[in-house]
Amino acid sequence: MTETETVADLAERLAREAGAIQRERFETEIRISTKGTPTNLVTEVDHQCEALIVGGLEQERPNDSVLAEEGSGQDDPSAEWRWVIDPLDGTTNYAHGYPRFCVSIGVERGGVREVGVVYDPLLDECYRAVRGGGASLNGRRIQVSSEDRLEHSLAATGFAYDVHKSPDDNLANFGRMIKSTRAVRRDGSAALDLCYVAAGRLDAFWEFKLNAWDIAAGLLLVEEAGGRCTNMAGDPPPRSGAETIASNGVLHDAILALLETQRPASAE
Ligand code: IPD
Ligand code: CA
Ligand code: CA
Repeated sequence: MTETETVADLAERLAREAGAIQRERFETEIRISTKGTPTNLVTEVDHQCEALIVGGLEQERPNDSVLAEEGSGQDDPSAEWRWVIDPLDGTTNYAHGYPRFCVSIGVERGGVREVGVVYDPLLDECYRAVRGGGASLNGRRIQVSSEDRLEHSLAATGFAYDVHKSPDDNLANFGRMIKSTRAVRRDGSAALDLCYVAAGRLDAFWEFKLNAWDIAAGLLLVEEAGGRCTNMAGDPPPRSGAETIASNGVLHDAILALLETQRPASAE
């Protein structure tokens, strides 16, 4: 077994274990607080899932770098392997009892995306990609859609937690895409949205102001499923998540022509 396969197996095991916590505690009494803005929620389950994953890595791979959303990892730029973790993507949904959320774990080697695992615990769906090895859903190969007509496409997007105050709010794009596609969804988990593009359930996804942990796994899944991911200029998307456009590839240029942002993409 290669080291990449060992890392992918560990990522899948930890994602499934964290997902089991999410499943067990869903719709039970949990502590919920806010961070940064009143709409940006964090629950005790976010912290519990992160502790499980980061604790597992401390045991199994103590030399690896860890960037985890709730801040419990040690991000060491000199490490060969770097884990980028969203312990619970879709926290607003989770806190409201809306059944769409997941665990997202991306792993880079030397700054290159190498492994991506996303686990949806309610559907028991595990998405997994390894660079050069394709993308799968519960072990079955997946690929992006072949839809080539924007007016027949299903897209998804999301809005940052500053949407209530920022003029760069993605609403004009939302309007243009609604008018140009069959429909646009906003379902509250960017990591799952990217997986749905990879699986051909969505034809495209875009969002600005995401964070590295939202996209670290999903971008590799889309690419390994044959799709395209870029920033607004059509260049590789920033690892920061600041500008993320993902599609089946065929529709990509048409979507880029419709979208705009007032804010330049930040550097890596
Ligand atoms: C959020 C979700 C949501 C997206 C937000 C993200 P979180 O992540 O992915 O779909 O629109 O921009 O921050 O806070 O639930 O981990
Ligand atoms: Ca997230
Ligand atoms: Ca999260």
